[in-house]
Amino acid sequence: MRSLKNKKILVGITGGIAAYKIPNLIRELIKLEAEVKVVLTEEATKFVIPYTLKILSKNDVFIDQFELTDEDGIIHTSLANWPDLYVIVPATANSIAKITYGICDNLLTLFPLSSKSKILIVPSMHTNMYENEITQKNIQILKERGFYVLEPETGELAGGDVGKGRLPDIERIVFEIIKLTYKKSFLDKKILITSGPTREYIDPVRFISNPSSGKMGYELALEGVLRGGNVTLISGKVSLKPPYEVKLINIENSEELYDEVSKNFFSNDYLLMSSAVCDFKPVEKKENKIKKEEDFPSVLNIKKTRDILKEMGSLKKNQKLIGFALETENEIENAKKKLSEKNLDMIVLNKISDKSGFEKDTDEITIIFKNGKITSFPVLPKSEVAKIIFDFMEDL
Ligand SMILES: Cc1cc2nc3c(=O)[nH]c(=O)nc-3n(C[C@H](O)[C@H](O)[C@H](O)COP(=O)(O)O)c2cc1C
Repeated sequence: MRSLKNKKILVGITGGIAAYKIPNLIRELIKLEAEVKVVLTEEATKFVIPYTLKILSKNDVFIDQFELTDEDGIIHTSLANWPDLYVIVPATANSIAKITYGICDNLLTLFPLSSKSKILIVPSMHTNMYENEITQKNIQILKERGFYVLEPETGELAGGDVGKGRLPDIERIVFEIIKLTYKKSFLDKKILITSGPTREYIDPVRFISNPSSGKMGYELALEGVLRGGNVTLISGKVSLKPPYEVKLINIENSEELYDEVSKNFFSNDYLLMSSAVCDFKPVEKKENKIKKEEDFPSVLNIKKTRDILKEMGSLKKNQKLIGFALETENEIENAKKKLSEKNLDMIVLNKISDKSGFEKDTDEITIIFKNGKITSFPVLPKSEVAKIIFDFMEDL
């Protein structure tokens, strides 16, 4: 995830059963360094106590619109432009209806009228209430008026039955909050990212590969989606959960990777080839498992795999192409050669060390541009590296 440092989040809690989950949401927001204030309806106080929320948010909790703030200010006007985002979670059918029609008989529903902040509504209720035409129409009107709505999930509800209306996981809500407060420098841009290793099979159970974990590519995919891009992630076998809202395509070997990259390349604006493609593969894949005793080959016949990046570089029209290099000698020289031979716009050179490269959470990179400009960075978390790469991509 990404930090929420310097972000001000006003959390509005209404009287739905899922209110009991919101102290955990507030903990997560505080861990990500957000500044949090809380507004509750009277009914919400029956499900979650203000004292807990005050401790966890380390801040004020507001219920009564007629109370004055510590500075003797009227709450709804003094707080009106405070938040970067106002999140109403869980949002009851009742409060959604009130907000839709401008009924402001409590502080929580008064805010949408008195504030110009972005507002995210996270409805949660029993399936019948959610699917009711009245609720659906109200949600549609709110969306048309510029409110953001995070749809509830289908799952087990408080009464034990299963249906749509369940509050999304806290992680999903946090993702949405980060996304809505993130800079949108790649809004609607189409970004294709490849990640992870390829496996080149010798027989059905053995393959040639490398230790790529996919961490860098998955961080790039998260960064792209947070910045507003439409991200397609083509991933080799890794054990990572893909970021929300990313279109994931799974591949295993370099031929499958080639097929998917060439199928998707022309409908995208950017291609970031951060996968560790095997440069070699066996000339043939044995149909059955090679027996240790009988036909064990002392020499493996190998051939080169397709140079996907070079092929895309020779075919590109308006696409921006970003390559990744991992070299163990003459690093800069080899990366520059790769940049020009493959017709790239930018290349990210990774250092191999105990803090950088395969499987690590950190990386030490140098970025080289087509015009010869070179910028080096110290060891940084891969999330920071992803941000740097996207910042530079803004100027390509
Ligand atoms: C045990 C219980 C659970 C409830 N859960 C929900 C819920 O999940 N979603 C919802 O929209 N209403 C739920 N309600 C109904 C609301 O509490 C009721 O509509 C209330 O007036 C909402 O007030 P508020 O929107 O001002 O917070 C529940 C009621 C009870 C008694």
